[in-house]
Amino acid sequence: MHALKPVRSGSKVELYSELHVQARALLEGERDPTANAANLASLVFHTLPELNWAGFYWSHGKELVLGPFQGKPACVRIAVGKGVCGTAARDKRTIIVPDVEKFPGHIACDSASRSEIVVPVMSATDVLGVLDLDSPSLGRFDKEDAIGLEELVSIFVRSTDLGR
Ligand code: SME
Repeated sequence: MHALKPVRSGSKVELYSELHVQARALLEGERDPTANAANLASLVFHTLPELNWAGFYWSHGKELVLGPFQGKPACVRIAVGKGVCGTAARDKRTIIVPDVEKFPGHIACDSASRSEIVVPVMSATDVLGVLDLDSPSLGRFDKEDAIGLEELVSIFVRSTDLGR
C-alpha cells in the first residue's frame, strides 16, 4: 500500500508542491483511469485539510457521471451546464465557490458542504470530466488552490490512458 506522507504545515504553495510529488509517485507505472482516479481522489482527500468530499465526474455526452471519489455517496448524474460541476465542464474553466448557498443552481449532495472548487479535466480542447472538492468551511478555496489543483489534474492526465 502507498504510504501517505504527512504534509508539513506551511504555505499552500509548499503543500501543493508536496502533493504533486506524492501524486507523481502514486501514479507512476500505472495508466488505468479508474485506478489512477481512485488513488488520486484518496490522496487529495487525505492530504488537503478541511475537505468533506473529493472526486471525479466523467463526461458522457451531455451529462457528467460520478467517478471515483472519497466522502459521502453523491449525486450520480449532472447535466453539463448545471450545478458547479456542469458549469465548469461547459465553460472549460476552474470555478471557485466561496459560499455554495450563493451559487445559483448549486447541487447539494452533502449538506455539510459550504464551499467548493471544480477543475475541468481536459485533453487538448475536450472536457473528459471534472475534479470536484467540497469543504465544510466557507471560503476554503482560493487562487492558489486553483493553480495547485490544475497542476494535479495535469499530472493525472499525463500519467493516465484516458482513451481519447
Ligand atoms: N455540488 C456539485 C455537485 C457534486 S457534489 O458536490 C459531490 C455541483 O453543484 O455541481
